[in-house]
Amino acid sequence: MSESSPIFAVILAAGKGTRMKSNRAKVLHTLCGVPMVNYVIEATRPLLPEGLFVVVGHQAELVEAVLPEDAEAVVQEEQRGTGDAVRVALASLEGEEEGVLLVVNGDGPLISDRTLGELVERHRSAGVGATVLVAELEDPSGLGRVVEDAGVVRIVEERDATESEREVRLVNLGLYAFGLSEIRDAIGGLSSENESGELYLTDVLETIGRRSRAVTYTLKNPEEANLVNDRSQLARAEEILRRRILDAHMRDGVTVRDPVSTHIEASVEIGRDTVILPGTLLRGSTRIGSDCVIGPSTDLQDTLVGDGALVEHSVGRGAEVGDGASVGPYSFLRPGTVLEPEAKVGAFCEVKSSRVGRGSKVPHLSYIGDAEIGSDANLGAGTITANYDGEKKYRTRVGDGAFTGVNTNLIAPVTVGEDAYTGAGSVINKDVPAGKLAVGAPARAIRESPQRSRKRAQEDGPAENETEG
Ligand code: UD1
Ligand code: CA
Repeated sequence: MSESSPIFAVILAAGKGTRMKSNRAKVLHTLCGVPMVNYVIEATRPLLPEGLFVVVGHQAELVEAVLPEDAEAVVQEEQRGTGDAVRVALASLEGEEEGVLLVVNGDGPLISDRTLGELVERHRSAGVGATVLVAELEDPSGLGRVVEDAGVVRIVEERDATESEREVRLVNLGLYAFGLSEIRDAIGGLSSENESGELYLTDVLETIGRRSRAVTYTLKNPEEANLVNDRSQLARAEEILRRRILDAHMRDGVTVRDPVSTHIEASVEIGRDTVILPGTLLRGSTRIGSDCVIGPSTDLQDTLVGDGALVEHSVGRGAEVGDGASVGPYSFLRPGTVLEPEAKVGAFCEVKSSRVGRGSKVPHLSYIGDAEIGSDANLGAGTITANYDGEKKYRTRVGDGAFTGVNTNLIAPVTVGEDAYTGAGSVINKDVPAGKLAVGAPARAIRESPQRSRKRAQEDGPAENETEG
């Protein structure tokens, strides 16, 4: 076989994954936010396969939905075993004469591109018909055992194994390189005469071994042998991936105070000199700038954080936190929240579909929904937007430099003008004009606001005995 013969990758992902005890197909279970099957697909990429096929069956549409565009889904109508799955894939390769068929079980998310590359390399240099990836495991239970009889490699499934075969600790990891013509010739001859009544892909090794040659390739990094058949194996594999992600961030200049309690999904980006404190979860398309402090106990999903921001003991969902802004402790930023630079959302606040302008403060115990807060405004403790009348949502506008007293209720739709001021406990159901002080329940505008008086006093001349309130 020539060095340049093309590689066709086939990922087996049609099975149900019975041992997961799940309503969801096994390959759709996620590790660090990414479905299992996608790890396997990504590992084949550096080999530049000429074709990338994914055999789907159980929950085919759901699996297809997570596949990258360049992967071709091939439907296996009935899950009659791994041999049948490869037979179905080969039908899509009709007309291809020469090449290596790289077959990868969809449930080995830790398999590296390096191992796949080495397997193909070994296969090509040995000039054999089939090469299978194997490993010697402490606990081989559940996996096919690799037995060599008179130079012929054979794989025995645990359920079909004799007692002495079960003692074997050399296992099949479900990763194979086949000569395209060799696998084509052998696949038709599979029989389902075994304990499960399925067509075992593994049986082709014996056939190919007798005609050309089949050899094993031993896995170098034992970590990659963490295959996933049940949820406890899922957790073990995820733990390894989680540590890999954390290590990559640390190497890139992020401080992670407590890697044990920090969960960062594969897709998250973090800038240099940001510190992640214990108990923090960063998920989805979350992006954090540099020089931030995130955590402790913070959970951000699809949230963008600028540079130099602080977020502690808080939850973010589809929110944006600007440069130098601060959040928490104990606040909840819901979708559509935008905190402009230097804004502050303090303790026990909820913000939704709202923009909080540059330098503005929502320091304590507020609900801000469907609101537009200008810059340098200050919302007193307990300021609440009444944005919902039971049927519709309405918007609240608070102008630049406005100040609301504690427990102000803003009955939307309503506007509090620029530099306006509301008294403690006021109920604002009419617009407060710019520069006015409004008090009462419901509040009426009564006289000029303190900001405006102060500004005017400053303009009129020095006011020496004025104190700050
Ligand atoms: C298989 C191997 C076993 C090996 C183990 C490694 C066979 C007969 N046995 O066993 O020797 O040690 O993998 O993980 O191959 N699939 C399909 N269509 C099907 C059946 C399965 O696409 O009809 C897919 C599954 O989605 C899965 C992969 O093939 O991704 C392996 O199937 P699984 O049932 O997990 O095989 P094992 O019993 O673990
Ligand atoms: Ca398996």
